Amino acid sequence: MKKADIGLIGLAVMGENLVMNMESKGFTVAVFNRTTQKVDDFVNGRAKGKNIIGTHSLEELVSCLEKPRKVFMMVKAGNAVDNMIERLLPILEDGDIIIDGGNSHFPDTIRRTAYVESKGKLYVGTGVSGGEEGALKGPSMMPGGSPEAWQYVKPIFQSICAKVEDGSACCDWVGENGAGHFVKMVHNGIEYGDMQLICEAYQLMRDILGMSDDEMHEVFAQWNKTELDSYLIEITRDILAYKDTDGEPIVEKILDTAGQKGTGKWTGIAALDEGVPLTLIGEAVFSRCLSAMKDERVIAAKAYDRKIPAFTGDKAEMIEAIRKALYASKIISYAQGYTLMRTAAKTYGWNLNYGGIALMWRGGCIIRSVFLGKIKEAYDNNPQLENLLLDPYFKGVIESLVPAWRKVAAAAVTYGVPAPAMTAALSYFDGYTTERLPANLLQAQRDYFGAHTYERLDSPRGEFFHTNWTGRGGNTAASTYSV
Ligand code: 2AM
Repeated sequence: MKKADIGLIGLAVMGENLVMNMESKGFTVAVFNRTTQKVDDFVNGRAKGKNIIGTHSLEELVSCLEKPRKVFMMVKAGNAVDNMIERLLPILEDGDIIIDGGNSHFPDTIRRTAYVESKGKLYVGTGVSGGEEGALKGPSMMPGGSPEAWQYVKPIFQSICAKVEDGSACCDWVGENGAGHFVKMVHNGIEYGDMQLICEAYQLMRDILGMSDDEMHEVFAQWNKTELDSYLIEITRDILAYKDTDGEPIVEKILDTAGQKGTGKWTGIAALDEGVPLTLIGEAVFSRCLSAMKDERVIAAKAYDRKIPAFTGDKAEMIEAIRKALYASKIISYAQGYTLMRTAAKTYGWNLNYGGIALMWRGGCIIRSVFLGKIKEAYDNNPQLENLLLDPYFKGVIESLVPAWRKVAAAAVTYGVPAPAMTAALSYFDGYTTERLPANLLQAQRDYFGAHTYERLDSPRGEFFHTNWTGRGGNTAASTYSV
């Protein structure tokens, strides 16, 4: 019997769809699932007549594979992955490759890569984005792990992944150990931000401008023909037009409490760990948290009984300003996300290809957009680009958007409609482009109460001073105390 090119464990929807995708590209796939009934159902159902081999044990799966064996795990993130690795290691040979395509947290992937390599095998942790449809028709894939494994998995990954118009694959080697899952995590954080920005635009139009869902549907349809052209704008357009059985927009009947699975939170935690101001994604995560406090919000809304004043101004102008505010804020979100990746790359020793990452996100995944093509160009022009805001193209774009952005932020504040992501983005922009922030006062405060010392504008960096602010407590700085 012909051996399989790859084995896949975990026949839930994503797993099954990846198998169908691989098979459709000419690969023979052996499959296994803990509940073996699913193997039989799959092999006798969707997989019937295809180059898909059903197996009923891991040993049988492994025995079907071409060497070096490639075993793609699509099982629940967490302990299941560790258990599966433990069971696979003794039955694989040196040089064989274990792949985790689940939504694993990157520190786990760092740990697992080192562990699997210590046992003589290779490990790949890959982000897979695009949901069920992406898995079937072409996901965005972000693989990292053991670099030697890439040459073996590359032909499979790059043939099943999404492609952009010119045929480039939305999958390339990201970096060592947990780099792939880290980049996937940042992708998800950016997804939180993009969704929050769209939701803020919707609320500003609904609550300040009093627009109907049909009107907003038209607006999003128009926006999708501009620089905002993206999957999330496209589905928002369609959602707003979708009617319930009574002919009313269904979106207005959906309870306003957002769920989350935790990848946005992980991104926020990584940013705090790295000391990177990831304010927009942070606001997006907290906005979901605030939305979840529905009962309290209902009480508070009654208690304060705030009324949004009637809009006085040019409606069409405000709609265009909201579009510009969304675009500007989105640029900030990506600038912050890329700064997080650059900083983490230094911490973890990854050599990330930032243009390549933009290309991986350009198609297949939830944040896919035309805009990512421009980010790719920015990093292709300058791979060492410190911040997207310093790229000449984006500098020009941001400058053209700033007046409208301020107008929208001012309207949100004046009318009392929350726009946390858009306003946080503007504050970041204003902070990032301010030469002198008030941290001089902050350092004085720290030195006052804790003798934490400060540096001076008129002295070289690295020279620390302490002032005896109160005349009490002496001249000893905190750094010289031993507590
Ligand atoms: P199951 O069909 O036997 O539940 C998504 O949950 C996929 O991960 C399913 O294919 C599921 O298998 C598999 N899975 C979940 N936990 C697992 C574990 N501890 N060991 C093996 N497979 C697991």
